[in-house]
Amino acid sequence: MSSPLVVSLGSRSYPIHIGPGLLSSSLIPEGAGSRKVALITNTTLLGPYGTPLVRSLEEAGLTVETVALPDGEAHKTLDTLNLIYDALLTASLDRRSCLIALGGGVIGDMVGFAAATYQRGIPFIQIPTTLLAQVDSSVGGKTAVNHPKGKNMIGAFHQPRAVFADTDTLKTLPDREFTAGLAEVIKYALIRDPDFLRWLEDNMAALRSRDAGALTHAIRESCRNKSEVVARDEFETGERALLNLGHSFGHAIEGALGFGTWLHGEAVGVGMLMAALLSQELGHLASSDVSRIARLLRAAGLPMKLPDIPVDNLLPYMAVDKKNEGGRFRLILLRAPGAAYIEDAVSRDHLRSFLAGAPPSLASLASPA
Ligand SMILES: NC(=O)c1ccc[n+]([C@@H]2O[C@H](COP(=O)([O-])OP(=O)(O)OC[C@H]3O[C@@H](n4cnc5c(N)ncnc54)[C@H](O)[C@@H]3O)[C@@H](O)[C@H]2O)c1
Ligand SMILES: [Zn+2]
Repeated sequence: MSSPLVVSLGSRSYPIHIGPGLLSSSLIPEGAGSRKVALITNTTLLGPYGTPLVRSLEEAGLTVETVALPDGEAHKTLDTLNLIYDALLTASLDRRSCLIALGGGVIGDMVGFAAATYQRGIPFIQIPTTLLAQVDSSVGGKTAVNHPKGKNMIGAFHQPRAVFADTDTLKTLPDREFTAGLAEVIKYALIRDPDFLRWLEDNMAALRSRDAGALTHAIRESCRNKSEVVARDEFETGERALLNLGHSFGHAIEGALGFGTWLHGEAVGVGMLMAALLSQELGHLASSDVSRIARLLRAAGLPMKLPDIPVDNLLPYMAVDKKNEGGRFRLILLRAPGAAYIEDAVSRDHLRSFLAGAPPSLASLASPA
């Protein structure tokens, strides 16, 4: 097994282990760094992954409290969080105990927030089991639950003690979830890594067949890019905002359609293409660059059409987006494929006419140049 990546945050630095076979290795009980742990997962993942992991932790001499939460974004709430606190208090976990998040981004975000707040903060480790969680949500220390008035509105920054991304778990991930995760992988390449972009263009078929070697490389490059950005701007005062490429447009699609209709990554895929088109309109990208990006998104199996939503339904979701400062539209756009920047100068009228003029079918963009 290759050496782990390290997220460099001084005394809060931590390793990201990536590859097959991690769930049954001794790295996890060692990484927990505590005799007493709570393994928190959901009812879907408890049988296939939770129970075997509990067994191997117990064999390593740890005392394990197991918590299985209901599955789904709808349960990423303060009420579900209370179930975690209840279980931790009932089992007398103390400040030296460690929480283990086993699941996708929903579990990771909730367990991270529980760890940030239980007894004013205890350690936790992330064992992400979706592609999105392995390349994005498990790294960087953002934790949260939803509020009826907004997604991720109650949260904290709290870095994990270690991350274990076992590529074997992706074998059971539904196709649609897997494909949505590829959007976030492509995002890192478009933001800051032209070499990774070329690698993705050459290896998309291997990735989509979930080849362990291709997956390990793609997850590692994604986490390396994210952790380099996080190490420079942990609390998102500047550069970390680049990680939101495609997300303003994506959130607008998700919100206008009703959250959950499209998966987040599906909306981000189309959102990145919108960002590329606007970048072309502003004179940064050639049409051949936009086609290149469209071809990669199509090769990943991501949607290639805008949902049928009137512009006036999209705009409010862009305006309330928390990435906007002082009422202006703050967008992440591209100077080149592999180089994103923060654009503050797009007015509401400009954005409206851009959205109104966007082609409903994006598939034609992906035709050979
Ligand atoms: N903290 C961050 O920086 C950050 C970044 C991006 C997204 N997020 C959050 O992540 C969440 C989305 O995460 P997600 O896309 O992983 O969704 P998810 O956690 O809801 O998982 C998707 C579905 O896949 C199932 N599943 C998970 N692993 C599986 C496996 N190996 N095999 C079979 N089924 C499996 C889950 O039970 C669930 O039904 C959102 O709440 C979002 O806000 C957080
Ligand atoms: Zn995202």
